Amino acid sequence: MKDTKAAKEAARLREEINRHNHLYYVLDAPEITDAEFDRLMRRLEALEEEFPALLTPDSPTRRVGAAPLKEFGTVTHTLPMLSIFNASDREGGIKFDEGVKRFLKTDKPVEYAVEPKIDGLAVELVYEDGVFTNGSTRGDGYTGEDITSNLRTVKSIPLVLIGKNLPKRIEVRGEIFIPLKSFGDINKEREERNEPPFVNPRNAAAGSLRQLDPRVTAARPLDIFCYGVGTVEGKSFATHGKTLEYLKKLGLKVNPLVEVAKGIEGTLVYHRKLENMRDKLGYELDGTVIKVNSLKLQERLGVRTRSPRWALACKFPAKHGTTRVIGIEVGVGRTGALTPVAILEPVEVAGVTIERATLHNQDEVDRKDVREGDTVIVQRAGDVIPEVVSVVKDKRSGVEKPFKMPTECPVCSAKVERTGAIHFCTGGLSCPAQLKRTIRHFVTRKAMDIEGLGGKHIDRFVED
Ligand code: IVH
Repeated sequence: MKDTKAAKEAARLREEINRHNHLYYVLDAPEITDAEFDRLMRRLEALEEEFPALLTPDSPTRRVGAAPLKEFGTVTHTLPMLSIFNASDREGGIKFDEGVKRFLKTDKPVEYAVEPKIDGLAVELVYEDGVFTNGSTRGDGYTGEDITSNLRTVKSIPLVLIGKNLPKRIEVRGEIFIPLKSFGDINKEREERNEPPFVNPRNAAAGSLRQLDPRVTAARPLDIFCYGVGTVEGKSFATHGKTLEYLKKLGLKVNPLVEVAKGIEGTLVYHRKLENMRDKLGYELDGTVIKVNSLKLQERLGVRTRSPRWALACKFPAKHGTTRVIGIEVGVGRTGALTPVAILEPVEVAGVTIERATLHNQDEVDRKDVREGDTVIVQRAGDVIPEVVSVVKDKRSGVEKPFKMPTECPVCSAKVERTGAIHFCTGGLSCPAQLKRTIRHFVTRKAMDIEGLGGKHIDRFVED
């Protein structure tokens, strides 16, 4: 094939792949199957291999091309990345609104943009002439770390923006997060490899982003919601809402729940609505961000030292609860790993009743010094399995019983051995617990993909 013909085909493929990438990862509305998408990628890869001169840094095949780093460089933000003043209740919201009106010398209702406050990590993405050139963490707000290679691996971050007459330079700000489902999957895999699980999705996202090897980041299902801009050259907006509309048009991922609300009453209605949806969204959010919608008014209001006067974060109630440990049971996993689980007096935490909480392993039990009979603080960290955060030691009466891992498997009585932080049942497949879990693993979608053979059937099968 001639170079020019190949160049044309590569350009066409890139455009098509970028379009499908946007449809799939940003709009959640794919038009082709995964297999068809793969076929396009393979074709582009083959072309680039045959004609290396065609390779461009913004090619979709380059998402995981970079070599591991020794350390991150630093990036100075052209506009500081500020934090937001927090309020924990209705009164906080009303006080904020009164402050805004006093400052603007008005008693008319103020128009606010309202949006979910995502519990992740703030990043800045720089696009020059429509091409993603640099990405950084928030750092201390003034300088952050250069994590460009890692951000390139995030599929919902476009490497090239959509449209014509793109701004010379646009700094986009957003929050990187891990969807709850993926968080659960990552932790399951980590436990199977005897690696300590991530405490919460936020930690998992942070750990993944600050990886010196982008290939590790690429394997983590990170996602982004863009919520604002830094410096923009060659484009200006009237409102925050219009700014976000524009980001969407460029192909960036903006949270679909952004709304404009009239007066503080409107924002409080939105806040309650969001709280009711909270557990169904599939990602962690810790409240509502309220921003004065007019950028002119934002400018008039200005900033304090660390936070602007035009924004407020209204937090949801914490997902913590206090209860008592009735007992500590030991579960046996697929690889034979023993996991201590606290059996709790049922307690409601942010709308969900909790009766069990994982204690991870013996070291964790010792570190937190959790004993049977203790009063404990439990937390729902987005994960399906709640965990014990700490013990209320003041509540101890002296009869509480420290926990020790059994020396025999609680299911099959085989000997228990310790490797690193984890205790194992040595029974192998003669242990019914390990056998059941192994079969379950064998039939999962990622393995043999046997439909209709669920946990209940397998348990029954093994028991019979
Ligand atoms: S706006 C000056 N919008 O919250 C306003 N921040 O405490 C700048 N965050 O560092 C931030 N969701 O990491 C904004 N929809 C949202 C957000 C959001 C999460 C985080 C962000 C920021 C922190 C501020």
